[in-house]
Amino acid sequence: MTKQERYEALLPQIESLVSGEPDVIARMANVAAVLHEAFGFWWTGFYRVQGNELVLGPFQGPVACTRIPFGRGVCGTAWQRAETVVVPNVHEFAGHIACSSASNSEIVVPLLRAGEVTAVLDIDSKDFNTFDETDKHFLEQISIWI
Ligand code: SME
Repeated sequence: MTKQERYEALLPQIESLVSGEPDVIARMANVAAVLHEAFGFWWTGFYRVQGNELVLGPFQGPVACTRIPFGRGVCGTAWQRAETVVVPNVHEFAGHIACSSASNSEIVVPLLRAGEVTAVLDIDSKDFNTFDETDKHFLEQISIWI
């Protein structure tokens, strides 16, 4: 199965998990679990905007940093730019926050509501170059449902 086919197979499952559930934490928790299980990522989770920081939300994987300032790290950069950031090699990203030394590539997708970033979806991989336009496309689609 290609990555695209795997995402296409997951979309109906994710849509049914989140539709009808009014609590954002519950939606985030199941989406993190589904993505993490399906792709075997190293870390899959959410940070929510709380004032001028991102605060750790539902996730799957090892213990992570709990607070990330605006504009800091890959997550804070995606928040500041209000756009997805794909990092093929985190060691070459200036300001990357290493919650885990095992992480080598990363994608961060902002969740937008009325033009405002309310949270970010952060996924880390132990491999280099894991994320591309296919991940960006499908994860942005999923982020609209959360
Ligand atoms: N690497 C992220 C921090 C969060 S952890 O990866 C879970 C960053 O640079 O923003």
